[in-house]
Amino acid sequence: MSQRLTPAELIADGAGPHDRIEQRFAVAFDYPVLFTRDLFAIDNHVLPWAIGRREPNRRHRVLVVIDDGVAAGHPNLPARISAFATAHASVLDPCGAPMIVPGGERAKHDGDLVETLQRRMFDAHLDRQGFVIAIGGGAVLDVVGYAAATVHRGVRLVRVPSTVLAQNDAGIGVKNGVNAFGVKNFLGTFAPPWAVIDDFDLLRSLAVRDRTAGIAEAVKVAAIRDREFFTWLTAHVSALATGDDAAIEVMVRRCAALHLRHIATSGDPFETGSARPLDFGHWAAHKLEALTGGELRHGEAVAIGIAIDTGYSVATGQLPMSEGARVVALLRGLGLPLWHPTLGERDAHGRLRVLDGLAEFREHLGGELTVTLLGDIGRGVEVHAIEEAVVDAVVAGLAPAGAGA
Ligand SMILES: NC(=O)c1ccc[n+]([C@@H]2O[C@H](COP(=O)([O-])OP(=O)(O)OC[C@H]3O[C@@H](n4cnc5c(N)ncnc54)[C@H](O)[C@@H]3O)[C@@H](O)[C@H]2O)c1
Ligand SMILES: [Zn+2]
Repeated sequence: MSQRLTPAELIADGAGPHDRIEQRFAVAFDYPVLFTRDLFAIDNHVLPWAIGRREPNRRHRVLVVIDDGVAAGHPNLPARISAFATAHASVLDPCGAPMIVPGGERAKHDGDLVETLQRRMFDAHLDRQGFVIAIGGGAVLDVVGYAAATVHRGVRLVRVPSTVLAQNDAGIGVKNGVNAFGVKNFLGTFAPPWAVIDDFDLLRSLAVRDRTAGIAEAVKVAAIRDREFFTWLTAHVSALATGDDAAIEVMVRRCAALHLRHIATSGDPFETGSARPLDFGHWAAHKLEALTGGELRHGEAVAIGIAIDTGYSVATGQLPMSEGARVVALLRGLGLPLWHPTLGERDAHGRLRVLDGLAEFREHLGGELTVTLLGDIGRGVEVHAIEEAVVDAVVAGLAPAGAGA
């Protein structure tokens, strides 16, 4: 082996160091995403099937964790879960009563909660074949998922997403995460779940604000991937805005299917590259969430981020103005915000603070900055540079009269 060859030269040489063993294997992942109503009705077999589908002839230890927002909206839930476990005792062996944890982003800030969850799994003697069933919004699913992924290097996780955003996006994928050192999702793992169960009845107790916020992810994925879905969203804007059950259900299924297809077929489910093709609108969204100290819901921040990146796509001549106007009209029609006063904040040099989100977005994955813009409705395009002056002008255009940007 020559000391003088650089890695690039060694690769060009085609050989590389000779004294080596090449290790290579592939692991196939699969998990069902199930749709149901009233998951804990005694005659509903979705959960026992999901838990027992690989080993139907044994009892499975299950620890149930519930988001306190869900518990408040469904006060009988813990008792119903206990009755359900008794009725399905041939499959379910519960580790005590369900555990209730704080919901929302504060759950991901709270380092103690991860340890509390891990301790509960330790006390319950949960082994690697044991199950954690997490019922909650994206934040609770993320923190419980992180704790479950680190206990015994991964116990089985069944996610029961309870918000629109979690059912159509956050709760169905392969990631978990908690915030640390002031950075969102700084700690986390890629850990595909054992199963996901979307129970539409859980959404009934959701605040209108949270329900609407979750629809932003559907606008996002439709705008970059599926023109027909975008047209459907536009045609059903009032039904979606008022929380019509049937419309929400169709939207959640379609949005979930698009996200799942992306994870399965993108060729990079664990995001080792520099691109985040589904994170349209997210560079600004993540920064706005941080800058507003969590005042904006993730989906609301995404709506503002979509408005910025759509405006940028129009301003740089990639998207016809009329198509950009359709995206903005849909967001507005759904009741999503297109502005927050923080968006107009500037640093001591007069630079918009939200622009720091670009560097942080790049840093999360490493490598080259890659931002998805719109080439058309239904077709995302990736760019590797963003002109700050153009963002500035777009943000000024979003500002309500008198707000100033
Ligand atoms: N892991 C991923 O792949 C992924 C992807 C996208 C987003 N996320 C994360 O998801 C989080 C956002 O999740 P979210 O939008 O679901 O909100 P959330 O989890 O922050 O919940 C919002 C509020 O709704 C309450 N709540 C949840 N379900 C309820 C119900 N059925 N009835 C009444 N109240 C209920 C919660 O207690 C909370 O107060 C963010 O932390 C984001 O980073 C993760
Ligand atoms: Zn998102």
